[in-house]
Amino acid sequence: MDTLIALSSLLLLLLSQNAAILGQMDRTSIGGSGIGIPPSATPPTPPLSLLPSTPSQTHFVNESFIIYCQTVQKDIDTKWRDPRGQTRENTKGRVHIEKKTSGHLALVFEHIALEDRGNWTCEVNGNRNGNRNVNVEREYLASFELLVNQKISFGKTELVQSVREGRDALVNCFVEGMPAPEVSWHYNGEYINTVNSSKHNRLSNGLYIRNVSQADAGEYTCRAMRITPTFSDSDQITILLRIQHKPHWSFNETLPVQYAYVGGAVNLSCDSMGEPPPSFTWLHNGKGIVGFNHRIFVADYGATLQLQMKNVSQFGDYKCKVANPLGMLERVIKLRPGPKPLGPTRFQLKRLYTNGFELDLQTPPMTNVSDEMQIYGYRVAYLSESEFKFSAGNWSYAKQRDFSFHGGYKYIIPHLEKNTTYLMRAASRNLAGLSDWSAVKVFTTASGCRWNPSLYPIYVLILAFIWT
Ligand SMILES: *[C@@H]1O[C@H](CO)[C@@H](O)[C@H](O)[C@H]1NC(C)=O
Ligand SMILES: *[C@@H]1O[C@H](CO)[C@@H](O)[C@H](O)[C@H]1NC(C)=O
Ligand SMILES: *[C@@H]1O[C@H](CO)[C@@H](O)[C@H](O)[C@H]1NC(C)=O
Ligand SMILES: *[C@@H]1O[C@H](CO)[C@@H](O)[C@H](O)[C@H]1NC(C)=O
Ligand SMILES: *[C@@H]1O[C@H](CO)[C@@H](O)[C@H](O)[C@H]1NC(C)=O
Ligand SMILES: *[C@@H]1O[C@H](CO)[C@@H](O)[C@H](O)[C@H]1NC(C)=O
Ligand SMILES: *[C@@H]1O[C@H](CO)[C@@H](O)[C@H](O)[C@H]1NC(C)=O
Ligand SMILES: *[C@@H]1O[C@H](CO)[C@@H](O)[C@H](O)[C@H]1NC(C)=O
Ligand SMILES: *[C@@H]1O[C@H](CO)[C@@H](O)[C@H](O)[C@H]1NC(C)=O
Ligand SMILES: *[C@@H]1O[C@H](CO)[C@@H](O)[C@H](O)[C@H]1NC(C)=O
Repeated sequence: MDTLIALSSLLLLLLSQNAAILGQMDRTSIGGSGIGIPPSATPPTPPLSLLPSTPSQTHFVNESFIIYCQTVQKDIDTKWRDPRGQTRENTKGRVHIEKKTSGHLALVFEHIALEDRGNWTCEVNGNRNGNRNVNVEREYLASFELLVNQKISFGKTELVQSVREGRDALVNCFVEGMPAPEVSWHYNGEYINTVNSSKHNRLSNGLYIRNVSQADAGEYTCRAMRITPTFSDSDQITILLRIQHKPHWSFNETLPVQYAYVGGAVNLSCDSMGEPPPSFTWLHNGKGIVGFNHRIFVADYGATLQLQMKNVSQFGDYKCKVANPLGMLERVIKLRPGPKPLGPTRFQLKRLYTNGFELDLQTPPMTNVSDEMQIYGYRVAYLSESEFKFSAGNWSYAKQRDFSFHGGYKYIIPHLEKNTTYLMRAASRNLAGLSDWSAVKVFTTASGCRWNPSLYPIYVLILAFIWT
């Protein structure tokens, strides 16, 4: 809207200037030598002119632009031709013609597109049929070149790309922009010199890397930059390059034997790195796992099988198969019955802090089981009184803390609120899982700082100060 107003006022200004020039010309031709300019030196007023009159117009994609084709005589009929020589007559659309009451023919670009670039010409209608004289004909044309700039963009460039180890690969970067920008590459922030490099080569659609190895994994920044006489700009995109490889185990020490008891629960985990991220499959005694007593938690690089032990038939061999297109792995975990641990026989407060408790927990040794199956620690679950009310007494919202005898025999629950009441329960842990939970105990943290009654007037003053 503003552009339109500005343009029309500009138009008015130019029109009045033209009128002045015309007036001057009239006087020169009438008065002859009156002003001292020989009539032959006066350039003939072209019957057509453009406003704005600069012969080339530069715009960015999506900008709007209007140009007028104006005639000296109001009754001359004009038309616009596009860069392909087609006459444009449509009065609607992204690029259209508007006939102004002043007789000017406006060419309106609502949103400039790349395809609009080229030479647009305004000419007098019917001129081509009549006058064959080339010089005269040229005077009946007015043209401008539309130059279209396009912002730098990276089109369909993928932010995560993965390539095969041991082969040559291309890190794709599809840079778009008009005029075309220069592209440079950085690897983990370091400039990549592609001149005379036996490793890297810069291609129009990306960075070519020879004989890819794991060491080539990382962040590649594709940077596009351009400097033109009228503007300069740059943009960049960072691509994470992953190197494809067959799966390998993330941890060595997964136990080949695990224990559980009927009525308990157990987690069997399988963690493996691979690129592309591998798929995980669990089998029980060579068959797929059926029924409702299990859940599988899948992540990019691992799958955990959670079993609710309801039946002795659930013991046996659990096989985890890991595969991606480059290879596969498998591992068997033998799930054996183990004794359910005895619950703690002593569970009380040992020490009180403003932000925590130290607990006293004890369980007698189990006489009829091997040393390996004795309890090795405790799990404590706790909720503040208000959390307990909020969760309607559901312990699945409780926080948990695990202790094992490796860490010593001190059981401290830290990071609690002061002067707050907590509900707590505890269970013993052995290789076969958790014991039954103990009865719920209620403990309150120390209240910490004490109010000093002799300072009451000062507290009141401070409060009053805060309130105002
Ligand atoms: C042009 O505008 C359209 C819609 O307004 C938008 O979808 C497109 O991304 C824009 N193009 C550029 C190059 O800014
Ligand atoms: C437009 O015309 C000018 C002058 O005649 C010429 O130099 C230029 O190459 C033309 N541009 C296109 C895109 O045809
Ligand atoms: C690239 O190699 C050519 C020929 O071997 C040599 O003339 C030129 O100086 C080298 N350029 C750089 C930047 O090393
Ligand atoms: C590719 O690189 C590996 C080491 O990463 C090397 O052993 C091998 O010879 C190289 N292959 C070629 C064709 O250069
Ligand atoms: C796993 O063990 C093998 C051989 O015992 C060793 O070479 C490898 O580095 C270990 N891997 C991890 C991730 O600990
Ligand atoms: C198994 O894993 C789930 C999810 O991580 C966890 O909530 C649960 O306590 C674990 N069970 C056992 C017996 O460790
Ligand atoms: C345990 O599983 C077996 C075989 O699936 C089945 O026959 C048996 O009824 C199950 N026992 C119980 C108590 O569910
Ligand atoms: C071990 O003894 C406890 C009682 O001390 C008993 O409840 C449990 O069933 C026994 N376990 C085995 C495996 O005999
Ligand atoms: C406790 O909350 C969990 C998780 O929202 C829900 O699955 C479970 O059924 C709830 N238990 C009871 C007894 O409401
Ligand atoms: C501790 O909390 C109780 C109840 O929430 C409250 O009555 C008491 O004033 C608090 N004590 C201190 C020192 O904050």
